[in-house]
Amino acid sequence: WLPDEALRPAGRRRVRLLADGDDPVLTTLRDELVRATGLHGGAVVHDERAHLTLALASDARVLPALSGAAGRALDLVRRPGVDGELGRQGFVVGRDGEALVVVAATPVGLLAGWHHVLRTGEPLFDEQVFDGVSGLVEHLPAVAIRKLDHWDNIAADSPMGPVERGYAGASLWFADGRLRDDLTRVHDYARLLAHVGVNAVCVNNVNVHERESALLTSGLDQVARLAEVFRAQGIRTYLAVDFAAPITSGALTTSDPLDDDVRAWWADAAAGVHAAVPDFGGFVVKADSEGRPGPFAYGRSHADGANLLARALAPYGGTVFWRAFVYDHRQDWRDRSTDRARAAYDHFTPLDGQFDENVVVQVKLGPVDFQVREPLSPLIAAMPRTRLAMELQVTQEYTGQQRHACYLAPLWREALDFRPWGPLDPARPGRTVADVVRGDGTLAGALAAVANVGDDPFWTGHPLAQANLYAYGRLAWDPTLAPSALLDEWLALTFPGCDERVRATVHAVLDDSWRVYESYTAPLGVGFMVKPNGHYGPDVDGYEYSPWGTYHFADRDGIGVDRTRATGTGFTGQYPAPWCDVYESLDTCPDELLLFFHHVPYTHVLHSGSTVVQHVYDTHVAGAQATERMRETWREVRGLVPDAVYARVAERLDEQVRSAAEWRDQVNTYFWRKSGIPDPAGRVIP
Ligand code: GCU
Repeated sequence: WLPDEALRPAGRRRVRLLADGDDPVLTTLRDELVRATGLHGGAVVHDERAHLTLALASDARVLPALSGAAGRALDLVRRPGVDGELGRQGFVVGRDGEALVVVAATPVGLLAGWHHVLRTGEPLFDEQVFDGVSGLVEHLPAVAIRKLDHWDNIAADSPMGPVERGYAGASLWFADGRLRDDLTRVHDYARLLAHVGVNAVCVNNVNVHERESALLTSGLDQVARLAEVFRAQGIRTYLAVDFAAPITSGALTTSDPLDDDVRAWWADAAAGVHAAVPDFGGFVVKADSEGRPGPFAYGRSHADGANLLARALAPYGGTVFWRAFVYDHRQDWRDRSTDRARAAYDHFTPLDGQFDENVVVQVKLGPVDFQVREPLSPLIAAMPRTRLAMELQVTQEYTGQQRHACYLAPLWREALDFRPWGPLDPARPGRTVADVVRGDGTLAGALAAVANVGDDPFWTGHPLAQANLYAYGRLAWDPTLAPSALLDEWLALTFPGCDERVRATVHAVLDDSWRVYESYTAPLGVGFMVKPNGHYGPDVDGYEYSPWGTYHFADRDGIGVDRTRATGTGFTGQYPAPWCDVYESLDTCPDELLLFFHHVPYTHVLHSGSTVVQHVYDTHVAGAQATERMRETWREVRGLVPDAVYARVAERLDEQVRSAAEWRDQVNTYFWRKSGIPDPAGRVIP
């Protein structure tokens, strides 16, 4: 998004900037204005005859006509608690006669205001945008930290490739075992992120191996170069660190969080990184998870581990994002009492209230692992005295790996809107997940997501997967935005002035694509059924007898995981009311999560009226057919979008159609063979 053409509405006007100084974000903004007006015949002016004035509230030249807006922008920052922080990132839009004015308390807020103008385009100039009272409209993000985690590796021969679970080529910044010399694309990427409101980037994989661990010590010059590019767009840089770094990168023999030498090592490391990157964001940590080192080795808790790092960063204002993705990955499938879904809650809830102020516990959306359908992680409702971030996966590891079109904004909206305590009283509905991650007072939360970009010419492999990145940033800024409206925004900014048929086609392909993907893959919330390791394509029993805790327990009579309190693992008990009861009972458990919570016979009748096995047959046939329609629909835009985009999407849709048929046939055949129940519709199952 944001090709030169998208700059036209603002670029053809007289634009004035009231802000002085060499702050890097202001420099970026100045460059933006010069570029946009240079391209489209407008001008950067210094008098009052501007169509658009962008002003810092503190600028001495802020004119009387603007003072209302300036006062309002400063008010935002004075609000107590989280609001003050949000206010620093926000801006106020108003009118001064015919002119549009954007005022912010900080350069970051002003840059966000500029992007708002670009996004809204012509209507912002043409329509009256008064709120009826003062004529001023406030814009502030819902969540203070809106982070993208890059699972990028430095080592050229990293076993997981240059980007772990990356489906868009190599890393944008690491190549041949070091930082690239030419960071032009990183610069462009940072600009796109600033446009959608992302303000934090973790630059290396959460699985931190030796080479990546060295970023924190001998590699600091590389981190500093990268951080400079992000800083100019108001984005803070984070590093994923190895909990055993005092041993692997230092000369210690322990990484015990209560050891004095270990503390001193981290204090030194934090001082070093702060000296190289003065606005350093902080650390992201995967500890005691999938073989990574952590505090358990020393009999210490995850609060001990997180606070160790938090205290090292505290003098510099840094934050620790400590992941809650902690579970036993060496499970025995014969043991039905261990339940991976329970693990995060079991490990972390006893620690609520023990984490330092600058620790954010980062919790995956679902209790297992970014599946196409999972219930919300119960941990999100169980840490009232802890700062929490919800982690989403923009990279499509389990949702078609950017070979399948799968627009994820509807999934994320569903999670953000979810009310973990139920809509207790319709007049006073309970808090949503978006409220929880927004935080309050000192408990400011965050959103985090695994990025989906690489050095692919389309950034994301599948050109339509860009819409996921776009939607993530926008939803983190405003979780109430509608997925379909976000798609319109993305389309208008990506194919400016495009034919209405392009809009209609992309909607037809993407609007429902998440549910389509769900319909031809693992059914009814049971998850996995993917090929081991690569996680692409069907393998119904691929993880059934493995150590990873990802089982569906199909036998001749039925399928699903009994997670009830009555007869199963007791996982339903981790939810507050009403969900602990809703999920416990077959009468109330939603169909789409049935097999996540219950082991049922193939003949079990769903709320929809269909049986489980019939549902599987029907949805898999319909899902595969839907992908064929998506492919047909795309043909409508031949010649209306750039040829290269057309061809790349067409090629991906061919693969989606092929893969969906493979899913349909393997899953339906599996259910037919296990259950012996033929498809009454008489369809051929191989
Ligand atoms: C998934 C993914 C891994 C990743 C892990 C994580 O399991 O397959 O590649 O490292 O999540 O989130 O840490």
